[in-house]
Amino acid sequence: MTNTPNIHSVEDARIIARRRLPWMVFDYIDGAAGSETGAKRDRAALEAFTLEPRILRRIETVSLSKPVFGQRAERPFGISPMGMCNLAHPKADRALARLAAKYNVPLGVSTMSSTPLETLLKWSEGNAWFQLYFSGSGETSFKLAHRAQEAGYKTLVLTVDVPVLGRRPRELRHGFKMPFRIGPRQFIDFALHPRWSIQTLLQGAPKIANAQMEGYAFERTERRSLADWDTLKRLRELWKGQLVVKGVLNVEDALTLKAGGVDALQISNHGARQLESSPSPFDRLPLIREAVGPKFPIFFDSGIRSGEDILKCLTQGADFVFLGRALSYGSAADGPRGLNTVWNILSEELRGAMVMTGLSRLD
Ligand SMILES: Cc1cc2nc3c(=O)[nH]c(=O)nc-3n(C[C@H](O)[C@H](O)[C@H](O)COP(=O)(O)O)c2cc1C
Repeated sequence: MTNTPNIHSVEDARIIARRRLPWMVFDYIDGAAGSETGAKRDRAALEAFTLEPRILRRIETVSLSKPVFGQRAERPFGISPMGMCNLAHPKADRALARLAAKYNVPLGVSTMSSTPLETLLKWSEGNAWFQLYFSGSGETSFKLAHRAQEAGYKTLVLTVDVPVLGRRPRELRHGFKMPFRIGPRQFIDFALHPRWSIQTLLQGAPKIANAQMEGYAFERTERRSLADWDTLKRLRELWKGQLVVKGVLNVEDALTLKAGGVDALQISNHGARQLESSPSPFDRLPLIREAVGPKFPIFFDSGIRSGEDILKCLTQGADFVFLGRALSYGSAADGPRGLNTVWNILSEELRGAMVMTGLSRLD
């Protein structure tokens, strides 16, 4: 597949995505909590960090591969779980899963995914990790974890930074709801973006696919604040495979998780979509790395927009990084081709940054 000709950076893809998507959908993907100072802080922390150029290192070949949970991944980055990816493009889920299969990298499958978790595991050729939200009294969440285990998932990612859904004014202004409520306002928005509307309607409006399950009633706005350390303990007992906890920013929490037997933690502020005033995950990365020691697996996401950003996270102590919006911009800008283009750009930027800083490998 050739690259999309007019996309040369993640920002290029974002600009095209903004034109193509209905405003409501673009703002769901692009938006953040409150007045979005947290999103700016995530970027500012990454932008302020520099990489040291090194010279005359005679580098012949560069390898971007890195092991994750003992498996060789062809890239040091994977796909962060995102709800309703097919809103960006009707083929987004499939294209993301194909990338995961091709590069042997983790595909984060959200509780709120637009394709059933079983299908995504198949499409990704076993490279999918299931992301769980705890909600209500937890009964249905445990059922969902059980279902993922039955389906053959080996890795479970428990997201803990949504005890309540963040207030995102851009979503609220458009009346964004899943499933959609189409009033006059949304109707005009869709009518003004006919290419997206026709493509999407031809495939049938995207749904929260995992909710089509007996005894499972997931409401996006349902209370999720009742999880506690005991919940984690129960989940640890139930889940035989690797357990990752996503949404960690506090050193003491990180140490408690390590002591509680989780296999990895993911430093993240949910792309600044939750607590607007949270610290930037990038600032917390070296502190948490120092606290948990050099061997404990740390994953990272939030605010990554380039291959250089990826290298910065790896040099500051992350074992593996995950991308969210950057990939959705690619899907929205030009479907599977746009997604592949963004993936190739990130890979080339990372490769270039490695050579210029004197690195030929990452492990
Ligand atoms: C549209 C969208 C939907 C998301 N849905 C989920 C989700 O269902 N579960 C989850 O754990 N994180 C979710 N996230 C957060 C991402 O996994 C990730 O933490 C975040 O996007 C990283 O920041 P970035 O977008 O700046 O890369 C979502 C993010 C976006 C942009």
